[in-house]
Amino acid sequence: MDIKGIIANEQIGVTHEVKGWVRTFRSNRFIALNDGSTSKNLQIVVDFEQMDEALLRRITTGACISVKGDLVESQGTGQKVELIAQQIEILGDANPEEFPLQPKKHSLEFLREIAHLRPRTQTFGAVFRVRHAMQFAIHKYFNDNGFFQVHTPIVTGSDAEGAGEMFRVSTLDPTNPPRTEDGSVNWKEDFFGKETNLTVSGQLEGELFAMGLGKIYTFGPTFRAENSNTTRHLAEFWMIEPEVAFNDLFDNMELAEDCLKYTIRYAMEHCKDDLQLLADRLEQDEKQLPQDKRSMPLMEKLEFVANNDFVRCSYTEAIDILMNSNPNKKKKFKYIIEEWGADLQSEHERYLVEKHFGKPVILYDYPAKIKAFYMRLNDDGKTVRAMDILFPGIGEMVGGSQREERYDVLKKKIEEFGIEEESLWWYLETRKFGTCVHSGFGLGFERLISFVTGMSNIRDVIPFPRTPKNAEF
Ligand code: 4AD
Ligand code: MG
Repeated sequence: MDIKGIIANEQIGVTHEVKGWVRTFRSNRFIALNDGSTSKNLQIVVDFEQMDEALLRRITTGACISVKGDLVESQGTGQKVELIAQQIEILGDANPEEFPLQPKKHSLEFLREIAHLRPRTQTFGAVFRVRHAMQFAIHKYFNDNGFFQVHTPIVTGSDAEGAGEMFRVSTLDPTNPPRTEDGSVNWKEDFFGKETNLTVSGQLEGELFAMGLGKIYTFGPTFRAENSNTTRHLAEFWMIEPEVAFNDLFDNMELAEDCLKYTIRYAMEHCKDDLQLLADRLEQDEKQLPQDKRSMPLMEKLEFVANNDFVRCSYTEAIDILMNSNPNKKKKFKYIIEEWGADLQSEHERYLVEKHFGKPVILYDYPAKIKAFYMRLNDDGKTVRAMDILFPGIGEMVGGSQREERYDVLKKKIEEFGIEEESLWWYLETRKFGTCVHSGFGLGFERLISFVTGMSNIRDVIPFPRTPKNAEF
């Protein structure tokens, strides 16, 4: 039985054998043992007079041990049961002179440098158990609602977002690639016989399946070579992309809102201990701040989002609000909004969500110029059926749209955006044969985990973050 089960079942008098890592060893008597099954430690009581001294010395923070003993009601406070050790075996030493984790608070920056050991800490144990629960919740949500998961390719020849932020995939010799007559690299001789890259989104392939299976979703890694060194960007992140035939933009909003609320509620219900630990951690961090500078306690924040309707606000309305806002008038924004058509920066998004509305906001009907080629053009000829869902503290959580289903309009858009039609012939064909209204969105998984765990840096919610100049581990 794992420690989670032992603590939950409280089978007094039963002999257990447990294996785990020593968190602390106090007074040569109390071992706090953790095996990762829960944030809680099992207290092991050692009768040091009966134990070999050499063995006792090897019970140090980080050591891996196996313990056999009887479960009793705990004499102390802080735990209901404890294990009276009869036999202890050292499975793996952790020399205290070298082991970098000590039973004290380490900074998250330091822990990022030892990402190979951070799964052994209380905080990261909690974060990654929550991450697991939430990916399960996502699959459950879509499965229960009749969606099929589609595994879209990781290696592709297309740039779904048209932003040119791709990692090349090639087996050519970079120092001496084959060349064409005019001297440029001859990609025809590359592995796939053409230029390929890691996918930035599974959407385009997802759409093909939605127009056959009806309701699909993808959940996979995506890669973006954008040089954004922020607390919200990763070069490799996981994205959930549902795509639904016959859904219009407003159905799409409803699906996204429902899915977000469901998964957040799922975590609140199934990860109580871990979320409480993370909530306490945040509260501790903010203790020195004055009352009005502190953020909403984590549990309250999750409750609030799960139980309140998201605001729906058009881009045009948002621009009005922003142009009339104090920070815009007093030139406090770094980017002053001067006219309709401006792209929104995260400072504007945060103003709308955190200051103006005070809850998640779904912005929609953006100018066509600042959005991707595949979004459906509105009758006004200048806006598209796009939507972004903005969250407090995070900014953009979801980006989605109703897709352009009209062959001629899409063809023209592809031209206007300077995309080679040849690379998207298959995408265009879905509009030629049995086209229909359809919509979908992309939910950044790490941004969701960041929000739910209250971990403010996205690098702390993915096991091994990939960011500019960083691919250690
Ligand atoms: O808004 P994006 O770029 O939309 C798409 O990729 C569409 N193909 C989605 C669709 O309609 N099927 O990205 C979607 C979401 C963002 O809202 C954000 O949450 C997340 O993906 N995201 C990132 N997360 C971490 N690091 C990055 N560099 C991210 N870029 C986008
Ligand atoms: Mg976006």
